[in-house]
Amino acid sequence: MSLLSQPAASLRGATRLPGDKSISHRAALLGAMAGGCSRIEGMLRAGVTQVMLQSLADLHIEWRWDGEVLVMEGAGHKGFLPPSAAGGAGDTNALNCGNSATTMRLLAGALAGQPGWKSEYPQPVFVLDGSNQLRKRPMKRIIEPLCEMNAEIRSIDGTGCAPLAVKSAAITGIEYRMPVASAQVKSAILFAGLYASGSTLVEEPSPSRDHTERLFRWLGARMDIQPCRARVFPLQEPLPPLAFRVPGDFSSAAFLLAAASIVPGSDILIQGVGLNPRRTGLLGVLRRMGADIAEQEHSESAGEPFGDLRVRARPLQGTVVEGDEVVDMIDEFPVLAVAAACAEGVTEVRSASELRHKESDRISVLAGELRKLGIAIEESPDGFSIHGPATILGGRAESHGDHRLAMSLAVAGMISKNGVDIEAPECIGESFPGFHQLFNSLGGRLG
Ligand code: S3P
Repeated sequence: MSLLSQPAASLRGATRLPGDKSISHRAALLGAMAGGCSRIEGMLRAGVTQVMLQSLADLHIEWRWDGEVLVMEGAGHKGFLPPSAAGGAGDTNALNCGNSATTMRLLAGALAGQPGWKSEYPQPVFVLDGSNQLRKRPMKRIIEPLCEMNAEIRSIDGTGCAPLAVKSAAITGIEYRMPVASAQVKSAILFAGLYASGSTLVEEPSPSRDHTERLFRWLGARMDIQPCRARVFPLQEPLPPLAFRVPGDFSSAAFLLAAASIVPGSDILIQGVGLNPRRTGLLGVLRRMGADIAEQEHSESAGEPFGDLRVRARPLQGTVVEGDEVVDMIDEFPVLAVAAACAEGVTEVRSASELRHKESDRISVLAGELRKLGIAIEESPDGFSIHGPATILGGRAESHGDHRLAMSLAVAGMISKNGVDIEAPECIGESFPGFHQLFNSLGGRLG
């Protein structure tokens, strides 16, 4: 299968986006742990959230869709049952996290600290596993801090990667300094901290997305939050059920922001998109490059800011991206590279070696695919540089099973001479169902 993205005349109109992936993952897990029935509107219904929901179903959590609303019967924070328990999915305690590192890392934290199982079940060992792609992602970064908390968690084959074995244990609070800024690692520790004896402090070198902290606080969990430091206190009783709307995913909006900035004559409105400042690094970078992006209609949902973005095409100039800004746009580099190829001058990305540990090695794979389209890009150990403006000729390119690379190649096709034909585009459904229909409704030519 392939997806052909042909040159677009201009993108025009208004649209809304699927729900935020990070908030959806956290809302589902918190809904499962809540004491009562949650109603989550705008929940992302895509590959990566489906594996979280299926894992929760395997842990005997009941949920259903009421139209577009996820309805979940929380079992209380001590209520997960092993899959092998009576009426469960099978006789093993395997949980399949698919391609979703967020599912694996957050679940590991929540399961590590489950305080004990109903006496009729032996203490279970959960096996968290996933696709070959997920088996390459680094898991030592959660194993080490969780073991420091006395959790019993290990990489089964000793590689530091999945499959992971997690046995619930009595865990203790720690003070942990993270070597790299990662919201997934921070969140695994904070979820475990809800079950620890004593409080748990996590410090990070640069501030990463804070959806976990915001949701914990909104639900009334005891927290102490300061810049780059979050302390959580153990739960005394289950958190209340959640009722809120998940904002649109800024990381999905990124493809529209870049495309409407570079396709001449474009003018689009993206409604109801999450504007958490720890996610919107690309806004600042595109504006510095000269993009015309206006924010309108601000509001808040469950402690998360959201609003509308109006984008109009305008010529861009190259820029440098480094430091904390990298963390605020960690998922947006593939599409930034496409915008940079259309900008006048050099764009340089530094201090971004984390990109090598995403769904693909996003530095080398990105460079390889963009070169195929006629873009001059140089790779460095911790980033890349692009000399623009390039004439994007187009041609065949591969997704490497990386949803964000596939969608970025589609954006490149819109501004190319001959179109871009993307092989293995199914991965787009991992985070952005309806991607090509949404672009086509604005004037894109994807199919
Ligand atoms: C995520 C955090 C980021 C991001 C991922 C989702 C999250 O990963 O790349 O898409 O939901 O916490 P890291 O925490 O590994 O940087």
